[in-house]
Amino acid sequence: MPKTYWGLRPTPLLCLGLIFIGGMIYWFLSFDHFRDKHVPPSPVGAKSLPDPFMESPELQALLQLIHWPAPPENAAAFASSTSAEKSHYRLLQSQSNYTVGNMLLVSLEARDQSGQPKHYGGDFLRAKLHSPELKASVAGTVEDHKNGTYTLTFPLLWAGAVKVSVCLIYSSETVALLRRIRDSHPSTVTFRGYFVDPGQGSKEEVTECNVHPVSGPTCQYVDPGTGEHWFCARPQHHSCNDLVYHSTGIYKNVLSSAEKVFLSGAATDRIIPGSVPIIQVLPSHQLTVATSPPLPCHPGLALTNPSGFYYKDVWVSLGCSSRTFPTSDLALSCLRGKIVHMIGDSTLRQWWEFLLAFIPSVKHIDLHVTYKSGPLLAVEPAQGLVLRWRAHGVPLRTGKSKMADIHYLANELNALGGGPDMVVVFTLGVHFITFPMHIYVRRVHSIRQAVAQLLARSPQITIVIKSANTGYTVYGSDWLSLQLDNILRAMFAGMRVAIVDAWAMTSCHYLPENIHPGKVVVQNEVNAFLSYVCPGK
Ligand SMILES: *[C@@H]1O[C@H](CO)[C@@H](O)[C@H](O)[C@H]1NC(C)=O
Ligand SMILES: *[C@@H]1O[C@H](CO)[C@@H](O)[C@H](O)[C@H]1NC(C)=O
Repeated sequence: MPKTYWGLRPTPLLCLGLIFIGGMIYWFLSFDHFRDKHVPPSPVGAKSLPDPFMESPELQALLQLIHWPAPPENAAAFASSTSAEKSHYRLLQSQSNYTVGNMLLVSLEARDQSGQPKHYGGDFLRAKLHSPELKASVAGTVEDHKNGTYTLTFPLLWAGAVKVSVCLIYSSETVALLRRIRDSHPSTVTFRGYFVDPGQGSKEEVTECNVHPVSGPTCQYVDPGTGEHWFCARPQHHSCNDLVYHSTGIYKNVLSSAEKVFLSGAATDRIIPGSVPIIQVLPSHQLTVATSPPLPCHPGLALTNPSGFYYKDVWVSLGCSSRTFPTSDLALSCLRGKIVHMIGDSTLRQWWEFLLAFIPSVKHIDLHVTYKSGPLLAVEPAQGLVLRWRAHGVPLRTGKSKMADIHYLANELNALGGGPDMVVVFTLGVHFITFPMHIYVRRVHSIRQAVAQLLARSPQITIVIKSANTGYTVYGSDWLSLQLDNILRAMFAGMRVAIVDAWAMTSCHYLPENIHPGKVVVQNEVNAFLSYVCPGK
């Protein structure tokens, strides 16, 4: 039995997906083909940047990192998919007593819809250990033995009655379906471009836009700063230059009725029954709760596994000395004189909104833009605090917004001078999950370059990355999110940036799963962020 252990353990490295690479090669070939034949010259100073990264060993390594075992080809029938109700878990080894610092090992056996043991892995499981009365919980680590069995590991971090809870988020067959849809239907989510020319009266034309060419004659937009591409179907009565507004388009239904069964509520996010009793964890040498190490939080720290846990609804980091900011005065004194740039999606806008609600003297200044895209501005003039939020650029599911207000994240970073009082926090993920992986990897690559340059010209700046939240159910999936989140973490590993592990903080909390978590979770995320801005002693 492993003893006191909640230290560094590398997230298990995963291996290579051939289907995925095949899909990528196909995409590149078809993309070049299309560009040569049909796409008119870019209306906005076309500048095709060479992209050496796309052939680099780094990309291959990243693809290996997110490899996920796939079921055999002949296992596509629903009857052979994993059933949560028929699967089962039990204690791997039982001890006469358990103390804080021990590990709890649980063995899970996956079974299919008819109760037969599975012989391959790839199920997407979520496990936690929790004590509801103590509002304490920690995410478990899942090890896939790729033979239908899994070992779940839970560190015992507090004394009291603890219980195990395991969920089958998706069977391996459902994961294969999600992956296939992502890689073969790159436009399950579309966007709208609104073309306006005052010289032609107020008539507006709307066409479909996306990160890849849409069918028929196409307008191609190449961002001069990042080389990122955006495409819209060419309008009939306007020129490509008349693109003024952007919004969400439609969600295409690409599932057959046979496939819908895999993603129905009866088959996803189901509790797996187990025979692990409630366990009374005893204090260890008077230690009733694990504590954060006495190391101030600072950018560049690698995350531990687990990165932390909840105790009495407060997130305790196991990587550094996390702080709490229970009053608005404490939060404001941390943020005094800071210029905070938040760039990302609505999960980060929740931080901005939380701080506005939490610190009454922070005032929102209306910039007369579409709220869901930003830019948003709030100030606390007496303490010299500036809080900005804006979206990370297209692809962006949002209300009708001015295209010129939507800036690529890397361009925003490149426009910052930096300084010791500047704080940048960003997130990137949920708006990318339906697209093939290389779109995301290319985007993060340009952001990483911008971060490296910003750190070089301003070593005193604080840069924080918010990882993805769990709880994505509508048109998304936590499995797709996790793939991007692992890429994001890997691509910033070793850089002087801080990572707030929102994934862990959302995955084990007792509130119902929601991509926009409740206030107590957001407050813990913000406290983790402020622990990097104001690390204390
Ligand atoms: C816990 O178990 C160990 C051996 O397994 C034993 O030495 C110890 O006395 C037990 N402690 C309590 C409080 O039961
Ligand atoms: C599955 O693999 C694990 C780890 O290699 C092994 O301990 C276990 O016995 C295997 N179980 C089955 C049913 O093959």
